[in-house]
Amino acid sequence: MATALITGGTVGLGRAFATRLARDGWDLVLASRDAAGLEAAAAEFRATFGVTVEVIPTDLSVRSDTLALAGRLEDASRPIDLLVNNAGFGLHDSLVTLDPDKLARAIEVMDIAPAILQAAAARAMTGRGKGGIINVTSSAGTLTTGAYSAVKAWLTIMTESLAIELRGTGVRVVAVLPGWVETEFHSRAGIKANAFPPFLKKLVYVTPERVVATALDGLAKDRVVCVPGRRWAFAVWLARVIPKGLNRKVSGALTHSRT
Ligand SMILES: NC(=O)c1ccc[n+]([C@@H]2O[C@H](COP(=O)([O-])OP(=O)(O)OC[C@H]3O[C@@H](n4cnc5c(N)ncnc54)[C@H](OP(=O)(O)O)[C@@H]3O)[C@@H](O)[C@H]2O)c1
Repeated sequence: MATALITGGTVGLGRAFATRLARDGWDLVLASRDAAGLEAAAAEFRATFGVTVEVIPTDLSVRSDTLALAGRLEDASRPIDLLVNNAGFGLHDSLVTLDPDKLARAIEVMDIAPAILQAAAARAMTGRGKGGIINVTSSAGTLTTGAYSAVKAWLTIMTESLAIELRGTGVRVVAVLPGWVETEFHSRAGIKANAFPPFLKKLVYVTPERVVATALDGLAKDRVVCVPGRRWAFAVWLARVIPKGLNRKVSGALTHSRT
């Protein structure tokens, strides 16, 4: 039986990854801060899907926690076949009044921790000649909407770079760039996006299940970057090909609409 390690696997996108993989027969290792939430999710997955679930309470803003999780990824007696670097949070603060501690936490959780974990997974997986790494970045990384854009752009570039380094090793690496997905993400970050009327919501949001399906399909087809949903795929393509000045104009309009 194959095993997947998912960071932030109890709610939102992480939970959707865990549900889909457990339904497909994968054993799970779930890591996030909420120990009770981890135990509850694990009990549910065991009862519903009959899979083995290990939980590792982990705060990815704490380097020693991340290194311990990296150690689990490199434990040769209990191989991990798929790593999903999913944990993260929104960062919607003005760059003028930026809280440096919050920025450092965001970089630690969404850049440094995934980089440490993907490196550990790559070492273990290349030794076995197979494996997969999915990094949940964001379509925001193709825009200039503040620190979150920068944090996610960094992870996308790290993912693409690792994919180049691992070419021919049997280990596949995918960056999935969701647009807006309805999870706890926006309310946790104090972002207004969830106030959309229902018809608009249907147009702009993709479901967590769609994000998971796109990421797994990308892995199966050895695509390095994938964007869930046709509209978002088109938007990301546009953001990458339009002149930088126009990209900044769009980014500015988006930033103002959400404050
Ligand atoms: N929702 C969107 O519109 C959207 C769009 C693009 C990209 N994304 C990305 O998708 C990923 C998942 O977000 P989501 O939408 O599922 O948000 P969510 O519902 O708020 O879930 C975030 C998850 O990350 C975990 N997490 C946060 N800080 C952590 C820390 N310090 N250590 C360990 N785990 C931590 C949380 O678990 P605990 O709180 O229990 O630790 C939770 O499981 C994030 O990387 C986010 O940036 C989301």
